[in-house]
Amino acid sequence: MQEKIKELLSEVEGFKAESKEQLEEFRINLLGSKGKIKGLFADFKNVPNEQKKEVGQLINTLKLKAQDKLDEFKSKLAGGESSTANDLDLTRTGTPIKLGSRHPISIVRNEIIDIFSRIGFTVSEGPEVEDDWHNFSALNFPPEHPARDMQDTFFVESDGEEDIALRTHTSSVQVRIMENTEPPIRTLSPGRVYRNEAISARAHCFFHQVEGLYIAEKVSFADLKQTLMYFAKEMFGEETKIRLRPSYFPFTEPSAEMDVSCSVCNSKGCNVCKYTGYLEIMGCGMVDPNVLENCGIDSKKYTGFAFGMGVERIAMLKYKVNDLRLYSEGDIRFLEQFKAAF
Ligand code: PHE
Repeated sequence: MQEKIKELLSEVEGFKAESKEQLEEFRINLLGSKGKIKGLFADFKNVPNEQKKEVGQLINTLKLKAQDKLDEFKSKLAGGESSTANDLDLTRTGTPIKLGSRHPISIVRNEIIDIFSRIGFTVSEGPEVEDDWHNFSALNFPPEHPARDMQDTFFVESDGEEDIALRTHTSSVQVRIMENTEPPIRTLSPGRVYRNEAISARAHCFFHQVEGLYIAEKVSFADLKQTLMYFAKEMFGEETKIRLRPSYFPFTEPSAEMDVSCSVCNSKGCNVCKYTGYLEIMGCGMVDPNVLENCGIDSKKYTGFAFGMGVERIAMLKYKVNDLRLYSEGDIRFLEQFKAAF
């Protein structure tokens, strides 16, 4: 029996498979359920006890070697089938994928939202195609107000009763919020707005705003001032000063325009601030009681303030980009300069 096993061992060692069929034949012949190795195990019980150890080891060696051979040729024959598998170098560096970057308008918008969210403002969104009520009427625009003029507004359609237009400001979103929410309300409405303006370095037919609204009991102009001062310092630096100038908006009374000290020249006067030391960045005021009533809020119980700023304008101050057209031309050389912290 030992002789037989040793013969098989050398047979296995010298075996070479040239095809899958040959290898399969080898497997059946030796390792199969009716194969030679199975046969050896069956004969094992007839081996005299004193030889059992030696013979047992031999059969096991034979079995392991046969299995190794089988595995060796299995992978060799499979490798030969697809030569690329052998040529593939997994350690090679891959082709670099060019990563995009955030748009400067998104970066600045996110930063504004982040600053106000730290003092409890949420974010609200609304449609860009608006009806007259939400964009104008609810906001106390008299029918003959010049802002309704074709000069400023892109009208989409008129059903005879009410005009449908592209929103000219995101105050329309605040109307929707006031109509559906019980005060206290503290929310921001960021978004794209449209105005019928000739495109130039300083004006565009669309731009982005972040407007804010705070309505609760006993909200005062001092609250508005403090909130905007906090924003200006967070956005432009601790040493920033603000200035409020009287202004007019149909939906706020009193209304103001807010300026921040020019960070380019430290308020000394330069061509960015037109030698005034200050830059205008937003409109604001106390929400007109008529607007609150239009939206179903009790103006005897609640007061509130609102403000609105152009994101392009803030981005212009932050990045010193003074041509508005650059923001919407999609030129990668311009866009890839901005690194997002937000
Ligand atoms: N809606 C105004 C605009 O688009 C900005 C504004 C908002 C002014 C809120 C006052 C209060 O110019």
